Amino acid sequence: MINAKDCTFLYADWLLTCDEKKFFIKDGAVIFNKNIVDVGTLAELKKKYPEYEYKYCGKNSILMPGLVNSHIHLEFSANKTQLKYGNFMDWLNSVVQKREDLIEKATEKVIDEELNKMLQSGTTTIGAISSHNFDMTSCIKTPINVVYFNEAIGSKADMVDTLFTDFKAKLKNANEHKKDNFIPAIAIHSPYSVHPFLIREVLQIAKEKHLAVSAHFQESKGENEWLNYSKGEFTLFFKNFLNQNKSLTKPLDFLNQFKDIKNLSFTHCVEANKDELETIKNLDASIIHCPNSNRLLSNTILNLEHLENTNLALGTDGLSSNNSLNLFDEIRNAFFMHTEIHPNILAKKLLLSATKGGAKALGLNKGILKKDKDADIISFTLPDTCENEDDLLTAIILHTTKVNQTYIQGKQIEPS
Ligand code: BEZ
Ligand code: FE2
Repeated sequence: MINAKDCTFLYADWLLTCDEKKFFIKDGAVIFNKNIVDVGTLAELKKKYPEYEYKYCGKNSILMPGLVNSHIHLEFSANKTQLKYGNFMDWLNSVVQKREDLIEKATEKVIDEELNKMLQSGTTTIGAISSHNFDMTSCIKTPINVVYFNEAIGSKADMVDTLFTDFKAKLKNANEHKKDNFIPAIAIHSPYSVHPFLIREVLQIAKEKHLAVSAHFQESKGENEWLNYSKGEFTLFFKNFLNQNKSLTKPLDFLNQFKDIKNLSFTHCVEANKDELETIKNLDASIIHCPNSNRLLSNTILNLEHLENTNLALGTDGLSSNNSLNLFDEIRNAFFMHTEIHPNILAKKLLLSATKGGAKALGLNKGILKKDKDADIISFTLPDTCENEDDLLTAIILHTTKVNQTYIQGKQIEPS
């Protein structure tokens, strides 16, 4: 028996569970309240629960889990034309130069608008990296699920105590607003920008409080050369801004500090070598792929063929390294970038990374339409019929930028 009063009954021409097994259900239906009660074909569910009214999502409709944008920086939402692209160090220098101005322009209104656009484009969960908590009010009031990563940053030894105190204050502030769809977590900016003491202390908090953790890792050639040899294009930056001439950690030593963190992710990893990727896999960590950001900042691309058995998630990064926070745009770009993989195989990999993969990276019970998962569901329609499931995911990626209906934890959301 189900309590129909609390439940929504939907069906569509296709339902994508986004579970590897039984991925496609033709004429699929879902019953849900805050969680998913049942999933199957419309015929199966009508037989099991005949007395209820099922709502059709329309001709050529698709039902699937809401999208998970696992890595964004909302505090950079004001950037359009201010930053330099093509080389990571040039970009970083331009960020240092424009930072104050961009952060000031990223008002609550600007951030609210970006969150609303994300909702309209099917994103129901984000992993938001916050440097200053300037995005917190927006993240608390949005209906989107937010895993809110309070970021630790700073490599200067004489600043470490102050930085740690500031970090704890930010985390405390976020914790005071913890609720079902606002989940505080911890970000370590990167191996080159966080002092080892700060990394150790912050990870200790993550372990004690069972918080998800995320870090940028091996994003550029400059980072790799600096971490391994204290050489390359980072040298001048560290000398000029931080009076440092030696990297404080090696990549593997950095990774090995993350043992026993349950919900762990590393963003980018485009320059990670075989040993580093193996270590990430053994940590049971996820890799968050941000293809537009990699294209813009250092013209590189993650080699997806080297990631067997590592969970893949997808992110837009911030508007400091993208022109859109619409995850369907990101999926479409990734689809055209990874030319080494057959379109239909790649389409499935990308849609999985934007749903199930993202939920695992953030440690959430979401991303799959299956009994007892959170009912974060989107529906939209294709411009024409698609009979064959082999071609369906490619068609979705080619033709979707907006959704018609969004449910988050069972509640229908109207973008404002
Ligand atoms: C730092 O605060 O130490 C830092 C920030 C960004 C890049 C590199 C270092
Ligand atoms: Fe990032």
